[in-house]
Amino acid sequence: MKQYQIAVVVGSLRKESFNRKVANAIAKMAPSDFSFQQVQIGDLPLYNQDDDGSPADTVRRLKREITASHALLFVTAEYNRSIPGVLKNAIDHASRPYGQSAWEGKPAGVIGVSVGATGTSMAQQHLRNVLAYLDVPTLGQPEIFLQAKEGLFDEAGDIGPAGRKFLQGWMDRYVAWVKRHAA
Ligand code: FNR
Repeated sequence: MKQYQIAVVVGSLRKESFNRKVANAIAKMAPSDFSFQQVQIGDLPLYNQDDDGSPADTVRRLKREITASHALLFVTAEYNRSIPGVLKNAIDHASRPYGQSAWEGKPAGVIGVSVGATGTSMAQQHLRNVLAYLDVPTLGQPEIFLQAKEGLFDEAGDIGPAGRKFLQGWMDRYVAWVKRHAA
């Protein structure tokens, strides 16, 4: 059975990040032929085009991990109605040098959780725009705009009963879609 490696990019560096918790919890809903690895983005330097010819080791690592993956999962916070700078920085790094983007053609899921009622909807739309330019096809439906509130997680850190069916439905669609689109 083919194994699918999913590179998970979490758009928050916060230790107690809700988005990281969602990324951990949703990965457990996947079938056994899918494995999810969160890539580290907090130790990347700020992107500087002058460094394209001699990227930092952390940048090489990020590009290696994205290149080795079959598909992507972005789980992002929303900062001021867009994606956090750390996420954009990581995306920019792995998109360069020009013509050597690691993202191209990797199918991606986009989800997120915020404390606001709009549940990262604006950040996700901005992210989809960036990914379209990078030739990353994104799963359109179902969309997941989660609000961080009581009951989102159960005591084990899994998705709580109220959201479980919906998120499992999303995962089932994501898995089928990755199998259709992954190289
Ligand atoms: C936020 N937050 C936020 N929430 C939201 O729904 N829409 C927004 O535009 C913003 N803007 C924003 C800017 C900045 C700089 C911060 C620090 C926070 C709140 C945000 O949803 C909350 O901090 C989440 O907990 C962030 O996700 P993580 O870190 O828990 O994954």
